[in-house]
Amino acid sequence: MEKLSNDEKNNADLKESELLYGSYQEMMEMQLLYNAAIKQITTKLEILNEEFNVKHARNPIHHVEGRLKSPQSIIKKLNQKNMQVSITSAKRINDIAGIRVVCGYLNDVYNIKDMLLTQTDIKLIKYQDYIKEPNFNGYRSLHLDIEVSVFLSDHIEKVVAEIQIRTVAQDFWASLEHDIRYKSNKYIPQDICDDMLQSANEIAAIDLKMQETFIKIQNI
Ligand code: GTP
Ligand code: MG
Repeated sequence: MEKLSNDEKNNADLKESELLYGSYQEMMEMQLLYNAAIKQITTKLEILNEEFNVKHARNPIHHVEGRLKSPQSIIKKLNQKNMQVSITSAKRINDIAGIRVVCGYLNDVYNIKDMLLTQTDIKLIKYQDYIKEPNFNGYRSLHLDIEVSVFLSDHIEKVVAEIQIRTVAQDFWASLEHDIRYKSNKYIPQDICDDMLQSANEIAAIDLKMQETFIKIQNI
């Protein structure tokens, strides 16, 4: 297949944005809402991390990443789910606003989850604990689909976001697995899938061991 030039690619991107949002104004309004949700949640996480540091002289959060799903990815997901390509259906996708919270230890993952979910302006919509019950391939992470209120000039908008909370070790595995699965268009043979699963299980054992060691250090 021939590669698209930058101009051709920009035109294709514009067409997909138009297809989804209808107008430039609608696109800007949607992006404003979801970016506001990402900012709000990111700020909440920063505050929790800073407070934890003041109280316990340690940061439970290693880093936070936020991303807005591109129009192309939104359209792809809508098509996969046999949903109409429109703003109304797009609003039923939970991960247009995506936040990834990478923590040091396993206990930090669950502490951050508890701290977030006790906040009165956060409503839990869906809870998936892939740490307790890992994916078939070994993927581990805690997923929270939540709703936050975004205060605009004349009304309040409820915006949904997906928060993935995981340890540094789980993140290391998930990033590599994502690259292997999506970036190479090749068929992945079973023995490589088995190797990936084995690595995920070894990483999980190390996470548990590190957690135990950290508790021991605290008790010295
Ligand atoms: P959606 O309606 O598509 O959100 O379905 P779902 O809620 O069942 O999806 P889920 O929340 O389980 O997964 C959404 C995101 O989690 C993906 O976009 C990835 O970022 C991440 N994820 C889920 N499974 C895997 C996996 O096996 N490997 C990696 N690397 N990431 C995964
Ligand atoms: Mg999801």
